[in-house]
Amino acid sequence: MANPSNGRVALVTGASRGIGRAIALGLAEEGYDVVINDIERQSVQLDGVAGEIRAKGRKAWPVFADVSSKAEVEAMVAKALAEAVKIDAVVNNAGILIAKPVDTLEEREWDAVLDVNAKGTFLVIQALLPHFKARKYGRIVNIASIGGKHGAPEQAHYSASKAAVMGFTRVLAQEVGPFGITANCICPGIIVTDMGRTNLEVKEIADRWIANTALARLGQPEDVAGPVCFFASDASAFVTGQTLNVCGGIVLT
Ligand SMILES: NC(=O)c1ccc[n+]([C@@H]2O[C@H](COP(=O)([O-])OP(=O)(O)OC[C@H]3O[C@@H](n4cnc5c(N)ncnc54)[C@H](O)[C@@H]3O)[C@@H](O)[C@H]2O)c1
Repeated sequence: MANPSNGRVALVTGASRGIGRAIALGLAEEGYDVVINDIERQSVQLDGVAGEIRAKGRKAWPVFADVSSKAEVEAMVAKALAEAVKIDAVVNNAGILIAKPVDTLEEREWDAVLDVNAKGTFLVIQALLPHFKARKYGRIVNIASIGGKHGAPEQAHYSASKAAVMGFTRVLAQEVGPFGITANCICPGIIVTDMGRTNLEVKEIADRWIANTALARLGQPEDVAGPVCFFASDASAFVTGQTLNVCGGIVLT
């Protein structure tokens, strides 16, 4: 049985599947009503997540936008505020990974990954800041990656995009702190999702990740939801500008 309403509304991007879906459901479990975003192509899956949130007794508003488009993000935030009236917390989770070595990586592939992962995070925050500042309240949780700290071959552009998210969040926290807004990052480790499977296609590689993880297992999307709920809540009111690894204790070698 989910907790009763806590009177808060959260916006989660890329919420139709994987980690975003688990975060949206985890927040609903904690009593948040949730605005869930994804690209229009994911409409069936997004509607499914909306149904799961409503089954917990919470409100859900699906909103489409490609987070790399300023116009679509602004329209999404306007629609979200028109329907949900307010947003207390935002989780920038939408992301893509195109595995390719640097020497054959095409410019458009570099741009696509940086545009969704890094620029998308900036655009969503920029669109929401007037609302957060006016209310002198906001909880920002940006999903980066241990790949942004260490990374793996064929992920240079992905690593760059996630390092950008961490740097952006550290400075953002300093700018918005005086307005009662916190901004923190989470770096998931290897999580079993459509994207995570990119790191797990070869059994030896999957086994090596498990062997290098203190908890001796891969992560599940639900493993990321709890730490996100902490950063979205008032339990973390004096925590900002921080980056937390949620990786089962991976030893980065
Ligand atoms: N799975 C992992 O091992 C892992 C590890 C570290 C970090 N992450 C990060 O966690 C986040 C979620 O990843 P996941 O594993 O659940 O991946 P996923 O591919 O399963 O889900 C990503 C979601 O983002 C959506 N999305 C993609 N582009 C979008 C856009 N332009 N606008 C709006 N939505 C868009 C997709 O439709 C999808 O629903 C990503 O930011 C990813 O980089 C994942």
